[in-house]
Amino acid sequence: MKKTLAILLAAILMLGCMSFASAEAKTYKVGVSIYQYTDNFMTLYRNEIEAYFKSLETDDVKYEITMADGKNDMAEQTNQVRNFITQGMDVIILNLVQTSSADAVIDEIVDAGIPLVLINREPLAYDADGNTIDEAYEGILNNDKVCYVGADARQSGTFQGQMVVDLENHGDINGDGKVSYIMIEGDPENIDAQYRTEFSVKALTDAGIEVECLDDQVGNWDQTKGQELCANALSKYGEKIEVVFCNNDAMALGAATAITAADRKVGEDIYLLGVDALEEAVQLVKDGEMTGTVLNDHIGQSHKAVDVAVMLLNGEAIENYYWVDYVMVNKAYVDAQ
Ligand code: BGC
Repeated sequence: MKKTLAILLAAILMLGCMSFASAEAKTYKVGVSIYQYTDNFMTLYRNEIEAYFKSLETDDVKYEITMADGKNDMAEQTNQVRNFITQGMDVIILNLVQTSSADAVIDEIVDAGIPLVLINREPLAYDADGNTIDEAYEGILNNDKVCYVGADARQSGTFQGQMVVDLENHGDINGDGKVSYIMIEGDPENIDAQYRTEFSVKALTDAGIEVECLDDQVGNWDQTKGQELCANALSKYGEKIEVVFCNNDAMALGAATAITAADRKVGEDIYLLGVDALEEAVQLVKDGEMTGTVLNDHIGQSHKAVDVAVMLLNGEAIENYYWVDYVMVNKAYVDAQ
Protein backbone atom coordinates (compact mmCIF):
# COMPACT_ATOMS: atom_id res chain seq x y z
CA MET A 1 0.00 0.00 0.00
CA LYS A 2 2.77 2.39 0.99
CA LYS A 3 4.63 1.50 -2.21
CA THR A 4 1.59 2.11 -4.42
CA LEU A 5 1.06 5.46 -2.76
CA ALA A 6 4.70 6.43 -3.31
CA ILE A 7 4.50 5.48 -7.02
CA LEU A 8 1.26 7.44 -7.40
CA LEU A 9 2.79 10.47 -5.73
CA ALA A 10 5.86 10.28 -7.94
CA ALA A 11 3.65 10.01 -11.03
CA ILE A 12 1.61 13.04 -9.97
CA LEU A 13 4.79 15.01 -9.35
CA MET A 14 6.22 14.07 -12.75
CA LEU A 15 3.02 15.01 -14.55
CA GLY A 16 3.01 18.31 -12.70
CA CYS A 17 6.57 19.03 -13.82
CA MET A 18 5.80 18.11 -17.42
CA SER A 19 2.78 20.36 -17.70
CA PHE A 20 4.76 23.14 -16.03
CA ALA A 21 7.50 22.73 -18.63
CA SER A 22 5.10 22.91 -21.56
CA ALA A 23 3.30 25.95 -20.09
CA GLU A 24 6.53 27.93 -20.00
CA ALA A 25 6.99 29.46 -23.46
CA LYS A 26 10.36 30.49 -24.84
CA THR A 27 10.40 34.25 -25.39
CA TYR A 28 12.80 35.68 -27.98
CA LYS A 29 13.80 39.31 -27.74
CA VAL A 30 13.73 41.11 -31.09
CA GLY A 31 15.10 44.63 -31.57
CA VAL A 32 13.83 46.56 -34.61
CA SER A 33 15.05 50.03 -35.55
CA ILE A 34 13.39 51.88 -38.43
CA TYR A 35 15.19 54.83 -40.04
CA GLN A 36 12.19 57.12 -39.57
CA TYR A 37 8.66 56.44 -38.34
CA THR A 38 7.07 59.26 -40.37
CA ASP A 39 8.00 57.54 -43.67
CA ASN A 40 4.71 56.35 -45.29
CA PHE A 41 6.15 53.17 -46.77
CA MET A 42 8.20 52.17 -43.73
CA THR A 43 5.12 52.61 -41.54
CA LEU A 44 3.32 49.88 -43.50
CA TYR A 45 6.47 47.79 -43.40
CA ARG A 46 7.06 48.04 -39.64
CA ASN A 47 3.41 47.39 -38.78
CA GLU A 48 3.57 44.24 -40.88
CA ILE A 49 6.78 43.10 -39.11
CA GLU A 50 4.95 43.26 -35.79
CA ALA A 51 1.75 41.67 -37.07
CA TYR A 52 3.60 38.84 -38.77
CA PHE A 53 5.76 38.06 -35.71
CA LYS A 54 2.56 37.91 -33.64
CA SER A 55 0.97 35.54 -36.16
CA LEU A 56 3.92 33.14 -35.78
CA GLU A 57 3.60 32.90 -32.00
CA THR A 58 2.61 29.57 -30.51
CA ASP A 59 2.03 28.33 -26.95
CA ASP A 60 5.73 27.49 -26.85
CA VAL A 61 7.33 30.42 -28.69
CA LYS A 62 6.75 34.14 -28.12
CA TYR A 63 8.44 37.19 -29.62
CA GLU A 64 8.99 40.29 -27.54
CA ILE A 65 9.50 43.09 -30.04
CA THR A 66 11.16 46.38 -29.18
CA MET A 67 10.65 48.93 -31.97
CA ALA A 68 12.67 52.11 -32.17
CA ASP A 69 12.34 55.23 -34.32
CA GLY A 70 15.73 56.22 -35.79
CA LYS A 71 14.29 59.71 -36.38
CA ASN A 72 16.46 59.97 -39.50
CA ASP A 73 19.45 60.51 -37.18
CA MET A 74 22.33 58.05 -37.41
CA ALA A 75 23.72 58.95 -33.95
CA GLU A 76 20.31 58.27 -32.44
CA GLN A 77 20.07 54.94 -34.24
CA THR A 78 23.58 53.90 -33.17
CA ASN A 79 22.48 54.48 -29.56
CA GLN A 80 19.42 52.34 -30.13
CA VAL A 81 21.57 49.53 -31.48
CA ARG A 82 23.86 49.81 -28.44
CA ASN A 83 20.82 49.60 -26.17
CA PHE A 84 19.65 46.52 -28.07
CA ILE A 85 23.06 44.95 -27.41
CA THR A 86 22.94 45.80 -23.70
CA GLN A 87 19.40 44.46 -23.47
CA GLY A 88 20.64 41.17 -24.91
CA MET A 89 18.43 41.03 -28.00
CA ASP A 90 18.35 37.60 -29.64
CA VAL A 91 18.13 39.10 -33.12
CA ILE A 92 18.13 42.62 -34.58
CA ILE A 93 16.24 43.89 -37.64
CA LEU A 94 17.71 47.12 -38.90
CA ASN A 95 16.57 49.74 -41.42
CA LEU A 96 19.67 51.92 -41.49
CA VAL A 97 19.45 55.71 -41.37
CA GLN A 98 22.72 55.94 -43.29
CA THR A 99 24.00 53.04 -45.31
CA SER A 100 27.46 54.63 -45.16
CA SER A 101 27.48 53.67 -41.46
CA ALA A 102 26.78 50.02 -42.23
CA ASP A 103 30.32 48.79 -41.48
CA ALA A 104 30.49 50.33 -38.01
CA VAL A 105 27.02 49.17 -36.99
CA ILE A 106 27.39 45.65 -38.41
CA ASP A 107 30.73 45.26 -36.56
CA GLU A 108 29.22 46.19 -33.19
CA ILE A 109 26.32 43.79 -33.63
CA VAL A 110 28.47 40.93 -34.93
CA ASP A 111 31.00 41.43 -32.12
CA ALA A 112 28.14 41.10 -29.63
CA GLY A 113 27.23 37.78 -31.27
CA ILE A 114 23.75 38.93 -32.29
CA PRO A 115 22.34 37.90 -35.69
CA LEU A 116 21.30 40.79 -37.92
CA VAL A 117 18.74 41.26 -40.69
CA LEU A 118 19.19 44.49 -42.65
CA ILE A 119 16.13 45.72 -44.52
CA ASN A 120 15.06 48.28 -47.13
CA ARG A 121 18.27 50.36 -47.37
CA GLU A 122 20.88 48.29 -49.10
CA PRO A 123 24.44 49.11 -48.03
CA LEU A 124 26.56 50.04 -51.04
CA ALA A 125 29.71 48.09 -51.81
CA TYR A 126 32.79 50.24 -52.40
CA ASP A 127 36.28 49.79 -53.80
CA ALA A 128 39.68 50.53 -52.21
CA ASP A 129 39.29 54.23 -53.12
CA GLY A 130 35.93 54.40 -51.41
CA ASN A 131 33.96 54.63 -54.67
CA THR A 132 30.72 52.68 -54.77
CA ILE A 133 30.66 49.61 -56.99
CA ASP A 134 27.92 47.34 -58.23
CA GLU A 135 28.77 44.36 -56.04
CA ALA A 136 27.57 42.61 -52.93
CA TYR A 137 28.59 44.20 -49.65
CA GLU A 138 31.50 42.52 -47.89
CA GLY A 139 30.21 43.26 -44.40
CA ILE A 140 27.18 41.16 -45.31
CA LEU A 141 28.90 38.49 -47.42
CA ASN A 142 31.57 37.82 -44.80
CA ASN A 143 29.14 37.14 -41.97
CA ASP A 144 27.03 34.01 -41.85
CA LYS A 145 24.61 35.64 -39.40
CA VAL A 146 24.07 38.85 -41.32
CA CYS A 147 21.80 39.31 -44.33
CA TYR A 148 19.97 41.89 -46.38
CA VAL A 149 16.32 41.58 -47.38
CA GLY A 150 15.16 43.97 -50.08
CA ALA A 151 14.06 44.59 -53.61
CA ASP A 152 16.28 45.40 -56.60
CA ALA A 153 15.61 49.08 -57.20
CA ARG A 154 16.75 48.82 -60.82
CA GLN A 155 13.62 46.81 -61.50
CA SER A 156 11.34 49.51 -60.06
CA GLY A 157 13.01 52.22 -62.15
CA THR A 158 12.78 50.14 -65.29
CA PHE A 159 9.06 49.53 -64.68
CA GLN A 160 8.44 53.27 -64.26
CA GLY A 161 10.13 54.02 -67.59
CA GLN A 162 8.44 51.06 -69.27
CA MET A 163 5.00 52.45 -68.39
CA VAL A 164 5.90 55.62 -70.29
CA VAL A 165 7.31 53.65 -73.25
CA ASP A 166 4.04 51.68 -73.35
CA LEU A 167 1.92 54.83 -73.80
CA GLU A 168 0.63 55.44 -77.32
CA ASN A 169 2.70 58.63 -77.67
CA HIS A 170 5.59 57.15 -75.61
CA GLY A 171 5.39 60.17 -73.33
CA ASP A 172 5.95 62.72 -76.10
CA ILE A 173 2.77 64.73 -75.59
CA ASN A 174 3.75 67.78 -77.65
CA GLY A 175 5.20 65.73 -80.50
CA ASP A 176 8.58 67.47 -80.54
CA GLY A 177 10.43 64.16 -80.77
CA LYS A 178 11.61 64.03 -77.17
CA VAL A 179 10.23 63.32 -73.73
CA SER A 180 10.80 66.26 -71.38
CA TYR A 181 10.67 65.18 -67.76
CA ILE A 182 11.36 66.25 -64.22
CA MET A 183 12.80 63.89 -61.61
CA ILE A 184 11.91 64.10 -57.91
CA GLU A 185 14.44 62.03 -55.98
CA GLY A 186 14.47 60.38 -52.59
CA ASP A 187 17.45 60.60 -50.27
CA PRO A 188 20.40 60.60 -52.70
CA GLU A 189 22.51 58.36 -50.44
CA ASN A 190 19.90 55.63 -50.84
CA ILE A 191 20.51 53.17 -53.66
CA ASP A 192 16.74 53.03 -54.28
CA ALA A 193 16.84 56.71 -55.20
CA GLN A 194 19.95 56.33 -57.34
CA TYR A 195 18.74 53.32 -59.29
CA ARG A 196 15.18 54.53 -59.78
CA THR A 197 16.48 57.84 -61.11
CA GLU A 198 18.87 56.10 -63.49
CA PHE A 199 16.78 53.16 -64.68
CA SER A 200 13.48 54.99 -65.25
CA VAL A 201 15.19 57.20 -67.83
CA LYS A 202 17.28 54.31 -69.16
CA ALA A 203 14.10 52.39 -70.05
CA LEU A 204 13.19 55.30 -72.35
CA THR A 205 16.60 55.67 -73.97
CA ASP A 206 16.92 51.87 -74.33
CA ALA A 207 13.67 52.01 -76.29
CA GLY A 208 15.27 54.59 -78.58
CA ILE A 209 13.35 57.53 -77.13
CA GLU A 210 15.10 60.87 -76.82
CA VAL A 211 14.83 62.49 -73.41
CA GLU A 212 15.34 65.94 -71.93
CA CYS A 213 15.76 66.46 -68.19
CA LEU A 214 14.22 69.81 -67.24
CA ASP A 215 14.73 69.49 -63.51
CA ASP A 216 16.15 66.99 -61.01
CA GLN A 217 15.61 67.73 -57.32
CA VAL A 218 15.85 65.94 -53.99
CA GLY A 219 12.51 65.48 -52.20
CA ASN A 220 13.82 63.10 -49.50
CA TRP A 221 10.90 60.65 -49.93
CA ASP A 222 8.58 63.28 -48.45
CA GLN A 223 5.06 64.18 -49.65
CA THR A 224 5.14 67.88 -48.75
CA LYS A 225 8.55 68.28 -50.36
CA GLY A 226 7.33 66.45 -53.47
CA GLN A 227 4.41 68.83 -53.78
CA GLU A 228 6.62 71.88 -53.33
CA LEU A 229 9.23 70.75 -55.88
CA CYS A 230 6.62 69.80 -58.47
CA ALA A 231 4.75 73.07 -57.99
CA ASN A 232 7.97 75.05 -58.48
CA ALA A 233 8.90 73.07 -61.60
CA LEU A 234 5.41 73.48 -63.04
CA SER A 235 5.51 77.23 -62.61
CA LYS A 236 9.01 77.40 -64.08
CA TYR A 237 8.66 75.02 -67.05
CA GLY A 238 4.87 74.91 -67.51
CA GLU A 239 3.62 73.00 -70.56
CA LYS A 240 7.12 71.81 -71.36
CA ILE A 241 6.89 69.15 -68.64
CA GLU A 242 5.51 65.95 -70.10
CA VAL A 243 6.52 63.42 -67.45
CA VAL A 244 6.99 63.67 -63.70
CA PHE A 245 9.06 60.81 -62.30
CA CYS A 246 9.01 60.48 -58.51
CA ASN A 247 11.27 57.98 -56.72
CA ASN A 248 8.36 57.05 -54.43
CA ASP A 249 4.60 57.41 -54.05
CA ALA A 250 4.69 59.80 -51.10
CA MET A 251 6.37 62.39 -53.34
CA ALA A 252 4.09 61.43 -56.26
CA LEU A 253 1.02 62.09 -54.08
CA GLY A 254 2.44 65.54 -53.39
CA ALA A 255 3.14 66.01 -57.10
CA ALA A 256 -0.44 64.97 -57.94
CA THR A 257 -1.73 67.77 -55.71
CA ALA A 258 0.60 70.27 -57.41
CA ILE A 259 -0.46 69.07 -60.87
CA THR A 260 -4.16 69.55 -60.06
CA ALA A 261 -3.46 72.96 -58.52
CA ALA A 262 -1.67 74.00 -61.73
CA ASP A 263 -4.74 72.96 -63.77
CA ARG A 264 -2.91 70.19 -65.52
CA LYS A 265 -4.52 66.82 -66.18
CA VAL A 266 -2.68 63.52 -65.84
CA GLY A 267 -3.19 61.31 -68.88
CA GLU A 268 -4.01 64.33 -71.05
CA ASP A 269 -1.26 66.93 -70.78
CA ILE A 270 1.15 65.31 -68.30
CA TYR A 271 2.15 61.88 -66.95
CA LEU A 272 2.99 61.02 -63.34
CA LEU A 273 4.86 57.98 -62.03
CA GLY A 274 5.68 56.80 -58.50
CA VAL A 275 6.90 53.68 -56.68
CA ASP A 276 5.50 51.73 -53.67
CA ALA A 277 1.83 51.22 -54.61
CA LEU A 278 0.57 52.94 -51.47
CA GLU A 279 -3.20 52.57 -51.25
CA GLU A 280 -3.78 56.27 -52.05
CA ALA A 281 -1.52 56.06 -55.10
CA VAL A 282 -3.23 52.92 -56.42
CA GLN A 283 -6.54 54.78 -56.08
CA LEU A 284 -5.13 57.67 -58.13
CA VAL A 285 -3.99 55.21 -60.82
CA LYS A 286 -7.51 53.77 -60.84
CA ASP A 287 -9.01 57.25 -61.16
CA GLY A 288 -6.56 58.17 -63.92
CA GLU A 289 -4.82 60.79 -61.77
CA MET A 290 -1.52 58.93 -61.78
CA THR A 291 -0.08 57.14 -64.80
CA GLY A 292 1.35 54.33 -62.75
CA THR A 293 3.23 53.14 -59.72
CA VAL A 294 5.29 50.05 -58.87
CA LEU A 295 4.41 47.68 -56.06
CA ASN A 296 7.19 47.75 -53.49
CA ASP A 297 6.04 44.61 -51.73
CA HIS A 298 6.21 45.52 -48.04
CA ILE A 299 4.28 42.37 -47.15
CA GLY A 300 6.67 40.08 -49.03
CA GLN A 301 9.71 41.92 -47.68
CA SER A 302 8.59 42.11 -44.06
CA HIS A 303 7.56 38.45 -44.04
CA LYS A 304 10.87 37.41 -45.56
CA ALA A 305 12.77 39.51 -43.00
CA VAL A 306 10.85 37.93 -40.13
CA ASP A 307 11.17 34.39 -41.56
CA VAL A 308 14.93 34.84 -41.83
CA ALA A 309 15.09 36.29 -38.31
CA VAL A 310 13.27 33.18 -37.05
CA MET A 311 15.71 30.94 -38.94
CA LEU A 312 18.57 32.78 -37.24
CA LEU A 313 16.89 32.35 -33.85
CA ASN A 314 16.65 28.62 -34.58
CA GLY A 315 20.33 28.50 -35.46
CA GLU A 316 19.60 27.63 -39.09
CA ALA A 317 21.92 28.59 -41.94
CA ILE A 318 20.81 31.56 -44.03
CA GLU A 319 21.73 33.23 -47.32
CA ASN A 320 23.28 36.68 -47.30
CA TYR A 321 20.83 38.26 -49.73
CA TYR A 322 17.09 37.80 -50.22
CA TRP A 323 15.30 39.60 -53.06
CA VAL A 324 11.60 40.30 -53.39
CA ASP A 325 10.21 41.28 -56.82
CA TYR A 326 8.58 44.58 -57.73
CA VAL A 327 5.34 44.58 -59.74
CA MET A 328 4.30 47.12 -62.37
CA VAL A 329 1.02 48.81 -61.39
CA ASN A 330 -0.63 50.63 -64.30
CA LYS A 331 -4.33 51.21 -64.93
CA ALA A 332 -4.77 47.88 -66.74
CA TYR A 333 -3.26 46.08 -63.76
CA VAL A 334 -5.41 47.93 -61.21
CA ASP A 335 -8.60 47.40 -63.23
CA ALA A 336 -7.86 43.69 -63.46
CA GLN A 337 -7.54 43.34 -59.66
C1 BGC B 1 10.53 53.36 -50.61
C2 BGC B 1 10.33 54.75 -50.11
C3 BGC B 1 10.88 54.88 -48.71
C4 BGC B 1 12.31 54.40 -48.65
C5 BGC B 1 12.86 54.43 -47.27
C6 BGC B 1 11.97 52.98 -50.47
O1 BGC B 1 12.14 51.65 -50.89
O2 BGC B 1 10.14 53.27 -51.95
O3 BGC B 1 8.97 55.09 -50.09
O4 BGC B 1 10.81 56.24 -48.33
O5 BGC B 1 12.38 53.09 -49.15
O6 BGC B 1 14.18 53.98 -47.23
